[in-house]
Amino acid sequence: MSLDLHTARALLEWQIELGVDESMADTPIDRFALHAAQKATTAAGPVAPAAESSTVVDPIAHAQDAARKVTDLSGLQAALETYPHCELKLGARSLVFSDGNPAARVMIIGEAPGRDEDIQGKPFVGRAGQLLDRMFDAIGLSRRAEVAERALYISNILPWRPPQNRDPTAEEIAMMRPFMDAHVKLAAPDLIVLMGNISCQAILGRRGITRLRGHWTEALGRPVLPMFHPAYLLRNPAAKREAWQDLLAISAHLKSSPA
Ligand code: URA
Repeated sequence: MSLDLHTARALLEWQIELGVDESMADTPIDRFALHAAQKATTAAGPVAPAAESSTVVDPIAHAQDAARKVTDLSGLQAALETYPHCELKLGARSLVFSDGNPAARVMIIGEAPGRDEDIQGKPFVGRAGQLLDRMFDAIGLSRRAEVAERALYISNILPWRPPQNRDPTAEEIAMMRPFMDAHVKLAAPDLIVLMGNISCQAILGRRGITRLRGHWTEALGRPVLPMFHPAYLLRNPAAKREAWQDLLAISAHLKSSPA
């Protein structure tokens, strides 16, 4: 197997993180004999504490700590780049942080980058992203708009593509949540749109997008509207009717509470 420099380096860093400090011992170690000896010692009575104890790192506490220290969006991106505990970054080409205008009144939170997003380093640029752009264009909002009133800011719960686009695990979501909380605080949108089940799970602690969609709720101190994910709409075009109602609700909300 041939690895590119970036992947090889990431794999090495990961091993160091796990505590690997030599690639091979000079002499073979009989782990079965060691285990038997340890059991015999334990049975014989209390043992003195090991000279060196390894520090157990809590990835969520580390994420909370790192996220608490950031003061701006570029600092947040840098904190994610150096965060070592999410193994997804090892298989991903890019850290997909955000796209659009951070001053936008509307922030969209999706699930995780797919193949196109991983290649381009931007969220929602594949087929689902193109549909998302058309949907929001229809109510006069765009990620390319410079004026905050007409702008969108877009990010994902996970900044790295999961292998084979699998669903993120509960641990991966929990590790990324402190960063997303900081992201929302720094971007300070007037409202948040949660795209699909994973985003609802991460931010609201609930799934069931068919029931959740279209119902305003509050999270992270702001109004939140769950919507069908555009990838779902590509597979189920009949659900675009409900998505259109949700878009109209967003438009009405913005008009009824001007910036
Ligand atoms: N789906 C998402 O949830 N986010 C992306 O960036 C792309 C597809």
